[in-house]
Amino acid sequence: MGEKMDAQLKVEDLHVGFKQKKSSVNILNGVSFQVYKGETLCIVGESGCGKSLTSLSIMGLLPKQGEVQGGKIEFEGENLVQKNMKQMSRLRGNDLSMIFQEPMTSLNPVHTVGKQVAEVVRTHRQVGKKEAYSRALEMFELVGIPSPAERLHNYPHELSGGMRQRVMIAMALACNPKLLIADEPTTALDVTIQAQILELLNDIKAERQMSIMMITHDLGVVSEVADRVLVMYAGEVIECANNRQLFNNPQHPYTQGLIASIPKLKEEKDELPIIEGSVPSPEKMPKGCRFSTRCPFAKQECLTDSPPLQEAEEHTVRCWMHTDRWEEMTPWKGVDEDGREATEQDLIRS
Ligand SMILES: Nc1ncnc2c1ncn2[C@@H]1O[C@H](COP(=O)(O)OP(=O)(O)OP(=O)(O)O)[C@@H](O)[C@H]1O
Ligand code: SF4
Ligand SMILES: [Mg+2]
Repeated sequence: MGEKMDAQLKVEDLHVGFKQKKSSVNILNGVSFQVYKGETLCIVGESGCGKSLTSLSIMGLLPKQGEVQGGKIEFEGENLVQKNMKQMSRLRGNDLSMIFQEPMTSLNPVHTVGKQVAEVVRTHRQVGKKEAYSRALEMFELVGIPSPAERLHNYPHELSGGMRQRVMIAMALACNPKLLIADEPTTALDVTIQAQILELLNDIKAERQMSIMMITHDLGVVSEVADRVLVMYAGEVIECANNRQLFNNPQHPYTQGLIASIPKLKEEKDELPIIEGSVPSPEKMPKGCRFSTRCPFAKQECLTDSPPLQEAEEHTVRCWMHTDRWEEMTPWKGVDEDGREATEQDLIRS
């Protein structure tokens, strides 16, 4: 699947970093992927791997020190990286929408939720107050808020966490976005509410032909809602494949580790399974494969040469093992094929 479908969003070789006093530090290192029309792409990866930074770059909402250092973000054929703030704010909430992790921080405590949703409608549509409120009411009904007409007059603190998240979704959907980015949309909620919200998003997606890019730690959720899955590691895409392929036949050693260590997929979890070792910090990033400090299969050249992201058996994968070069590469010194005792320090020294 893939090539023949229309891409709604195309991220190409995206480099993002943070300005520091004299230099800048790179975080996203050549991130490339697409979101096709009408699909749900889930992004997974350990904390700090750059998932939120990827979504914020797309939305044009990078923190102050953040900068796009290279690459393209194409939405409907236009490069968002070249747009100014005004153009981006017109797109946001209109064609492009985002739901953030913690609804309390994104809702304004001093206005009623109805007013806030109506405001969003009025920012993007030439409509009067009354019409904006009736659109808000319609959205509250759509997202399953009980007694919606009364809830419009509530302040955020008067609603439960699940209801606030529904308000956020109503707000994000008010202008019929073509792409909805949901960054951990349900982690703050309890499990039954999580399931309801995800089901809701899925229904709305089907009804409106919307594309969803969803970030979540929960592989159980991923296996249920994703059409395709993108795995990130230390600021890079390391694997991308359709749902079934990724779970049944993971190709990258990191993805294999993730999936092998899920005790039971359906089990309630809010963190990714544990793989030994830790993610290298941006300042101490290995020169070659960024996973080489933890990879049980690493060869000598993995430490110095960065593997390309390329197609392999219906997957896109970044690992030397899936290239012609693998056979000629030098085994990790003094270690047999199935494992090694090298420490992280050994590997970083290069
Ligand atoms: N304002 C900032 N200044 C400097 N570095 C930052 C800033 N924000 C994020 N980073 C760095 O960028 C990297 C990626 O952060 P990001 O928030 O995208 O991770 P994430 O994958 O969303 O993690 P999580 O799962 O914890 O939400 C992290 O290593 C972090 O240290
Ligand atoms: S390139 Fe080498 S170190 Fe990196 S994941 Fe593949 S085998 Fe492991
Ligand atoms: Mg994040």
